[in-house]
Amino acid sequence: MAGKGSLRVLVLHGPNLNLLGIREPQVYGSFSLDEIDKKIVQWAKKEGVQVETRQSNSEGELVSWIQEAMGQYQGIVINSAAYTHTSIALRDAIASTGIPTVEVHLSNIYNRESFRHQSYIAGVAIGQISGFGVDSYLLGLQAIVEYLRKEQHA
Ligand code: DQA
Repeated sequence: MAGKGSLRVLVLHGPNLNLLGIREPQVYGSFSLDEIDKKIVQWAKKEGVQVETRQSNSEGELVSWIQEAMGQYQGIVINSAAYTHTSIALRDAIASTGIPTVEVHLSNIYNRESFRHQSYIAGVAIGQISGFGVDSYLLGLQAIVEYLRKEQHA
């Protein structure tokens, strides 16, 4: 159960998302990761929520950050990028810590190649938001914050 006071949410970006803006803009849009992070921080300020954003191309680093989030963050929003479709380690990290997690994707992974239709994360996430570009992150944040606030008042 989340404690009282300002909620702390960790936002994780997976591999190749550091190249947003130049990477397949027709699929992922023209915002850079920095610009997305600014929108996330702005949203969080308005909502009175503390957020930290981090990006890694390394599966192990993402696993470690999820583990280290225990006791530090009440919720996680993750765009696990390509690891979504491959990583049992990320799935196990989320399940092991029990930190409520929302999975987000910029693109709609279900109207793309069939290998993107499987998510190892979805089964251990509260839910998934896919296909709304930058707004997927903001919708994901809104979802986790509302979930955690309900939990606080339970
Ligand atoms: C992505 C979708 C993944 O399939 C892909 O590997 C990514 C980005 C998205 O945000 O749409 O790197 O997670």
